[in-house]
Amino acid sequence: MRESLEDRGFPEADGGRERRASGPPFRQALVLVLGALALAAVTAAPVAADYGVDTSDSVTRPAGQPGGEARTRVIGGSGTNASAFPWQVALVLDSRFAGNDYERQFCGGSLITPYIVVTAAHCLFDTDPDCADPPRPCGSDPGGDGSLALDDTDVDVVVGRTTLSGTGGAEESVYISGVYINGAYDPSTARGDLGYLTLANPITAQARIDIVDRNNLRAWRAGAPTRVTGYGLTETAVGANKSDTLQLATVPIIADAGCANPFVYGSFFFRRVQICAGFFEGGIDSCQGDSGGPLQTAAGAASGATRLVGVVSFGSGCAEQNKPGVYTRLAQNPFCEAVIANVDQIEQAEGVPPAGQEAVVGPAGCSDKQFTLKKRCKKKKSSAAAVRKKRCGRKKKGRKRR
Ligand code: ARG
Repeated sequence: MRESLEDRGFPEADGGRERRASGPPFRQALVLVLGALALAAVTAAPVAADYGVDTSDSVTRPAGQPGGEARTRVIGGSGTNASAFPWQVALVLDSRFAGNDYERQFCGGSLITPYIVVTAAHCLFDTDPDCADPPRPCGSDPGGDGSLALDDTDVDVVVGRTTLSGTGGAEESVYISGVYINGAYDPSTARGDLGYLTLANPITAQARIDIVDRNNLRAWRAGAPTRVTGYGLTETAVGANKSDTLQLATVPIIADAGCANPFVYGSFFFRRVQICAGFFEGGIDSCQGDSGGPLQTAAGAASGATRLVGVVSFGSGCAEQNKPGVYTRLAQNPFCEAVIANVDQIEQAEGVPPAGQEAVVGPAGCSDKQFTLKKRCKKKKSSAAAVRKKRCGRKKKGRKRR
């Protein structure tokens, strides 16, 4: 089953599924746009940590790799153990398709309730393996609905397995009973890149992950080291392989203004619903195949436990200079509350026992904090030099004199 969820917290919500019409021609435009970005990257030095750039939210333009090309892996990370990230799942094509779980893996996800995995909408939106083009739209879609969207019969999740081609792990493959895409998903901009799978049987042996709550803002402020995990590409060379073992990389959160810098993503980046993490120098990043997986707090950074900050969404290439990873922003509203609402709707639609909203986000609840670009003026006895540096301090003085 698949449904487009009305996202209550998100006024821009507009049922992304209708946008499918903007398919192939748009892709060409996108390639051009990304090509231009890549050119800009070649000529630009890494962006410095000070950004006086336009972050206007009003411009809407193609952003990433919406849908279809959903294959990426962690670059510049190192192997880790699934037991350290028990909420991490691998989305794998159903076993009626060829290959082992490693070969059939295409995206990541996180267990947020015993029955629900959160992932990226673009992993589900037009990835039906029965409808690989041509023909598009789908000719025959055995067990499915004839659309390009992934059907519950097309996908399983693998939980608790460090090496996908191996067996075992705390849980084996789990069958899927429902596929859901957030109603705000816009494939033409990759905004609202959020989707869910419901599990036919609850997973209780594996710890879940909660969204980071309002008491832990420091855990994901700009510069904070967060961690991304996944089975995606570990290098970007043509024909590079996905990783058979779960990879982990530590990536600092990038200030919204830095991500919106014209040399980075400019107006493609929409800070209300996206958050960037990585390095302007490049080298360490998530990549194809990691999509849908967790961007999570550093160990010990959030009080209590590791918390979910974002969902792997897109990037221009992987680990390239000035092109950090872009993640769906779950760490605050509107999407923090949207996830709670979506979980509620899914539980009702699927008739599974409600986990309760306290089971989806940390104890203090969702953060509404709006981050602004204003410089903070520290109030302290300031030397002449310090006053000269701080514009806001100077202004105040001037006003007083007048
Ligand atoms: N879209 C990719 C996927 O489907 C994820 C890309 C992440 N890219 C990045 N540079 N961080 O797997």
